[in-house]
Amino acid sequence: MEVVIVPDAAAGGELIAEAIATLMRRKPDALLGVATGSTPLPVYEALSAKVRACVVDASRARICQLDEYVGLPAGHPESYRSVVLREVVEPLGLDEGSFMGPDGTAEDVQAACEAYDKALSEAGGVDLQLLGIGTDGHIGFNEPCSSLASRTRIKTLTRQTREDNARFFDSPEEVPHHVITQGIGTILEARHLVLLATGEGKADAVAHAVEGPVAALVPASALQLHPHATVVVDEAAASKL
Ligand code: GLP
Repeated sequence: MEVVIVPDAAAGGELIAEAIATLMRRKPDALLGVATGSTPLPVYEALSAKVRACVVDASRARICQLDEYVGLPAGHPESYRSVVLREVVEPLGLDEGSFMGPDGTAEDVQAACEAYDKALSEAGGVDLQLLGIGTDGHIGFNEPCSSLASRTRIKTLTRQTREDNARFFDSPEEVPHHVITQGIGTILEARHLVLLATGEGKADAVAHAVEGPVAALVPASALQLHPHATVVVDEAAASKL
């Protein structure tokens, strides 16, 4: 695992955007796995700026989702589908046809999970998966004690994660209890994993993930098992390393 310490979130965003641009130059139809939350926004901003400046051509890129809430109505502004379309797909000038994600509105959620896991493989696998990290060490929505071999499936959010994500909703009660997430085993199949963590609030989770034992209690520690994992942290998030 490679750990890169950058001065701040903007520098982390620029570094990762350049890595994605390099991938897209080498493989124009690369499948880019994206994460939601506040942390990756500087990456998307820096990457869109490169596309606008014609420094990179993203027109053939494909985008896929990491996770999704279950039960939010289609088109809800905080469904991860809406977030990824708004923050990534549209700014890159792509259309919905270049985008794939799990169906959080499906009646048969289990079937939707299996279909998404299969669709990722059939698409040739994820070339670069961008990840954030939860304050409890989760990646995607794989909460502590998730199996390190897990596939895409339904999960129940912990109280901590629902509280952390309440800021995106009008009231804490609106945060769904259930989600679909790529499993840790699914995530580990991406060719390159890039985790970005910024701010002091992530320092404990980063220290456990990078320097602690590989353990289901800290899902992000599974990155230690991956042959090509890069952890980009600002100085605050690196403060307990
Ligand atoms: C959610 C997402 C994760 C993300 C995490 C941290 O739980 N499912 O993919 O990494 O939030 O979000 P933030 O970057 O806003 O701290």
